[in-house]
Amino acid sequence: MTILITGGAGFIGANFVLEWVKATGEPVVNLDALTYAGNRASLQSLEGSNLHHFVHGEIGDAALVGELLATHKVRAVINFAAESHVDRSIKGPTRFFETNVMGTLGLLEAVRAYWGGLGGAVKDAFRFLHVSTDEVYGTLAPDEPAFSETTPYRPNSPYAASKASSDHIVRSYHETYGLPVLLTNCSNNYGPLQFPEKLIPLVIHNALAGKDLPIYGDGLQVRDWLYVGDHCTAIRQVLETAAPGASYNIGGDNQMTNLAVVRHICALLDARRPKADGSRYADQMKHVTDRPGHDRRYAIDARKIAHDLGWQPSVRFEDGIRQTVDWYLANAGWVENVTSGAYRDWVARQYT
Ligand code: NAD
Ligand code: TYD
Repeated sequence: MTILITGGAGFIGANFVLEWVKATGEPVVNLDALTYAGNRASLQSLEGSNLHHFVHGEIGDAALVGELLATHKVRAVINFAAESHVDRSIKGPTRFFETNVMGTLGLLEAVRAYWGGLGGAVKDAFRFLHVSTDEVYGTLAPDEPAFSETTPYRPNSPYAASKASSDHIVRSYHETYGLPVLLTNCSNNYGPLQFPEKLIPLVIHNALAGKDLPIYGDGLQVRDWLYVGDHCTAIRQVLETAAPGASYNIGGDNQMTNLAVVRHICALLDARRPKADGSRYADQMKHVTDRPGHDRRYAIDARKIAHDLGWQPSVRFEDGIRQTVDWYLANAGWVENVTSGAYRDWVARQYT
């Protein structure tokens, strides 16, 4: 049997594919459109492997997806593919709705047709897992309880709205057609292979380049950071053991302000790559204009996945962030590769 991963050249998808091949030995078909966020170099260690079959294409291309499902006798689909950066969704929302809503719809239509043609135990065992975000729930006040699976959706950014829409479509395919779907809503991930437009890799990259470390507004926004490897483990557990139709929130039980995260990274860099002039990386921190509609706080109540499936985060933030900083220090070539032309254009538009 084979699984189909979409968006497997992106941050979480690539981490998932690398871990999956190592841990299971089960072949993966990896469908990715290779947008600016998709990077084949992240999968370099799988070059030549007969367990990894890369396909360049769109999730919304139902004909292509249908052919892949049938040819590879796929037993499960995990949908990571998305436009994923909030700031880009503010500057240009259309592509977010094309990929995250219409793309997911096209993917689901191909999956529904394929699954409808299966029979017996193969049909019963089939799963479609949609990877989503805690941002669909909107924002929390400091004293509000964390998001649970029953928190009403209240997305605030075009990114979150597009993901919320896709979650609703996925749910409807279960209720209406009986498609055996699974849904996960995870908090902010960090770790190796993350594109340096997101806070943590951006800060590492800018710090080393001697550039400003941009802090939106007062920097007291709170995120619940989870190491990417823990997210991948949770997805595998949900895929293999959760009941069709179930949804699970996944989080790190690790709420931190942006200021605390950035200061932590600066301290690590001071120790690992001290600046020649003796100054501190934190001196590069600079408060800049806040993000419009900026969600103040995210926090995940992950008791359901702990109770039902026994999953818990295993990597403490202090350990995960140290490994992450070390990975970026050791992989300057990967960073150089992804921060070429188009990346520079984005940074120029976003931060000037
Ligand atoms: P990413 O932006 O790093 O990667 C997205 C990948 O999808 C890229 O490889 C890109 O080429 C591909 N892609 C984009 N449009 C496509 C299309 N139309 N067809 C096929 N491939 C396409 O994203 P990520 O951070 O790895 O996030 C993966 C998923 O996890 C997303 O669905 C995101 O919403 C969700 N998520 C992310 C986080 C996080 O902190 N990064 C947290 C929770 C949930
Ligand atoms: P980000 O990594 O974009 O994730 P998300 O917006 O999906 O949570 O941002 C994490 C937090 O960091 C968020 O509160 C916005 C903030 N941020 C900055 O302060 N400066 C930056 O340059 C970026 C990219 C993000």
